[in-house]
Amino acid sequence: MLVVGAGGREHALAWKLAQSSRVSQVFVAPGNGGTALEAGVQNIPVSVDDTRALIHFAREEGIALTVIGPEGPLVEGVVDHFREAGLRCFGPGREAAQLEGSKSFAKSFLFRHNIPTAGSRTFSNPHKAKEWIREQGAPVVIKADGLAAGKGVTVAMSVDEALQAVDEILVENRFGEAGALAVVEEWLEGEEASFICMVNGQQVLPLATSQDHKARDEGDKGPNTGGMGAYSPAPVVTPQMHQHIMADVIEPTVRGLIDEGIHYTGFLYAGLMVSPEGVPRVLEFNCRFGDPETQPVLMRLESDLADLIDAALDGNLDSVEASWRPEIALGVVLAAGGYPGTPRKGDLISGVAQMPPSGVKVFHAGSHLVGEDVVTDGGRVLCVTALGSDVRQAREHAYRHIDTLDWPQMFFRRDIGYRAVARENNDPVTE
Ligand code: AMP
Ligand code: GLY
Repeated sequence: MLVVGAGGREHALAWKLAQSSRVSQVFVAPGNGGTALEAGVQNIPVSVDDTRALIHFAREEGIALTVIGPEGPLVEGVVDHFREAGLRCFGPGREAAQLEGSKSFAKSFLFRHNIPTAGSRTFSNPHKAKEWIREQGAPVVIKADGLAAGKGVTVAMSVDEALQAVDEILVENRFGEAGALAVVEEWLEGEEASFICMVNGQQVLPLATSQDHKARDEGDKGPNTGGMGAYSPAPVVTPQMHQHIMADVIEPTVRGLIDEGIHYTGFLYAGLMVSPEGVPRVLEFNCRFGDPETQPVLMRLESDLADLIDAALDGNLDSVEASWRPEIALGVVLAAGGYPGTPRKGDLISGVAQMPPSGVKVFHAGSHLVGEDVVTDGGRVLCVTALGSDVRQAREHAYRHIDTLDWPQMFFRRDIGYRAVARENNDPVTE
């Protein structure tokens, strides 16, 4: 098998696929320090956007299945190229990946199919965007239309902050092509959840739910990042809420795609805001597994992931079930100084050579192997993920292991899972 990507998500995918009794070898292109050291996994020096080299490798090595991790190559159409080459590849094609690749496309899709989401308007003209913002007032949310690694969204608490975000996107072109349009969106209050499914056409297999902390700082404050930690399951998704989300969000989404002649195969991630009244609304779609959600979700997966992906590709998703460990899994991201801006790189990570206790797994993201040493190589460096009988215990196990890891300017949030812990204690969460 071949996993394309270099992050924590891809380390978790490769680790899980390598456990399948049917899989003899997992390659990761290009992988990271963690996949380099993982049993049954081998890195290959091919970048995620070198489609020609990926296809050449898959052919030469007789790769049975390729799984694409990140959104970039999916939005660029890597899956279409694999299919044209007659190679088996899991992920949506270029057209379907627009659900993530263009927020304005996703918003019009949601409106067309009456799927609950925040009201919004899309602008190319900064003056018109500002006029609308002044009319609406704050809080308001400003988003770059295209891919921006989770950094193109400003949740503006004042009109001034919102106007500045418009300038960054539409005037200063901080996001390049991805910022040709700006989506201005109604601010939604509530609790977030990540609802990730495997999809093939109209067949859907919902995976375990999860919740991510997107903000850099404790208390969910500070700039948005790709995600500073996540846990599974998400307590906000009660069995009743699960049914609600399937009926009001997921089913209309797959039906809408089919009605529009778009065939979606792959992981489909709905980022939801559940209002205090219990209404789930779509904040965004991602056309892939979440990062860091993949790490805790796959820690809990008992089923063979290769079997599930095969079932999806063969149109048998309806006849399989995924089974999950009953424990809670919680992952804490350890980041490098500077993240989510330009991170400091090249620092020796101490403590990674030590085997973590059972029930704890260190997934690597921005790390890389130099001789026998593992050094930092990106913003989110590691995700320490632990199982526990409740959130409190999972959290304790994760943080205890984090104490054994270090490098200069390493930072992490100490409050991952705080909402879930408050629920366990029946405490109100104070914002
Ligand atoms: P997105 O990439 O669109 O999911 O936005 C990133 C993060 O910004 C989300 O995970 C939320 O925390 C926050 N966010 C996005 N849209 C809204 C909204 N309409 N109301 C409140 N928060 C939002
Ligand atoms: N953790 C959020 C994402 O994967 O987009």
